[in-house]
Amino acid sequence: MTGAGDRLRAILDSLRVGVIAIDANGRTELQNAEASRILGVSATATRGRKLEAYLGPEHPALSLFAEALRNQREVSAHACTLPQPFGKEPLIVDLAASPIGVGDEVDGAVLTLRDRTIGSELESLMDQRALSELFSQLAAGFAHEVRNPLGGIRGCSELLSDKLNDSELQRYPELIRDETDRILRLLDGLSEFTRGGDLRLQPVNLHQVLDKLLELHSHAAGWRGVEVVREYDPSIPELELDPDRMTQVFLNLVRNAVQAMGDRGRLVLRTRMDAQFQISSDEKGRLRMVRVDIDDTGHGISEKDMPHIFTPFFTRREQGTGLGLAVSQHWVVRHGGRIQAFHLPEGGTRMRVQLPVRRGA
Ligand SMILES: Nc1ncnc2c1ncn2[C@@H]1O[C@H](COP(=O)(O)OP(=O)(O)O)[C@@H](O)[C@H]1O
Ligand SMILES: [Mg+2]
Repeated sequence: MTGAGDRLRAILDSLRVGVIAIDANGRTELQNAEASRILGVSATATRGRKLEAYLGPEHPALSLFAEALRNQREVSAHACTLPQPFGKEPLIVDLAASPIGVGDEVDGAVLTLRDRTIGSELESLMDQRALSELFSQLAAGFAHEVRNPLGGIRGCSELLSDKLNDSELQRYPELIRDETDRILRLLDGLSEFTRGGDLRLQPVNLHQVLDKLLELHSHAAGWRGVEVVREYDPSIPELELDPDRMTQVFLNLVRNAVQAMGDRGRLVLRTRMDAQFQISSDEKGRLRMVRVDIDDTGHGISEKDMPHIFTPFFTRREQGTGLGLAVSQHWVVRHGGRIQAFHLPEGGTRMRVQLPVRRGA
């Protein structure tokens, strides 16, 4: 390549936008470094080949190219999910295709790809944080306002009970007392959101937190047939955490997993550095996260329930309060992290907690 060609190549490769040019026959002429990263194929592997040969016939880039050539104008598609090779997380990408040519003659097209994955991740983190703060304020106000009148109602039912000798009527004040107690228990659950609202952060070895929790609880009822597997990544650094809070979070998750498995199953606790947040050598503005996956082989979560499991009071269990996941999400978010649920192909559930690594750690 000429000096000017090399220079152009270097400029294209330095862009934070993926660029691919195809000729009139749909064969790839040029592909810059960012496009190679987003598509997961190298430029040498694609040069001179048709797009569908290496992206597959279903790839959204194909229809975009076809439309740009057919209508001879720019077409774009926002927030496309692009699958990645080797089981990596899909990327969220904005695509735009424009026809190119000399004069009126169209003899090819250019596609640009903008990776929005990091931006979307940050947006969803912000959403979780705002919602969680709002709920915790509501919960605190609500619990405070309701506790006093309930105390009054409970006291009156006891007075009534003392006055009523008639055993037929006696059961009514008892009913009032039992039901009031049930509401008071729920209020206790709600105050988990706010009790000691400040985090007591300290450097913590995450694996020690998990080990201690397993040691304390694995003798409990319901664990007998559960095989516990630890797949820890020894390279993860210490994290700045509130150990009590995070123990409570992981305990909630592990309990749910064990409950979902009934008598027997396999519980896997896996830790690792989150690759998705390390894609750039440029550390500025990027988050380094540690990921903890808790996989179970339980009954799973139905498609219908999935959007609701973090909502306070949502429960499918007879004795449930529906506060375990809501409280867990609250504390994870307060740590600057995130919590998500996934279906596992074998039918169980994966709960994923991501926690930030402070700069310099
Ligand atoms: N690991 C899991 N496997 C299957 N279902 C789960 C799992 N974790 C949570 N769930 C579902 O989410 C609901 C809410 O969980 P949670 O907030 O902990 O409340 P609770 O345990 O009191 O029901 C559960 O009732 C259950 O239906
Ligand atoms: Mg629970």
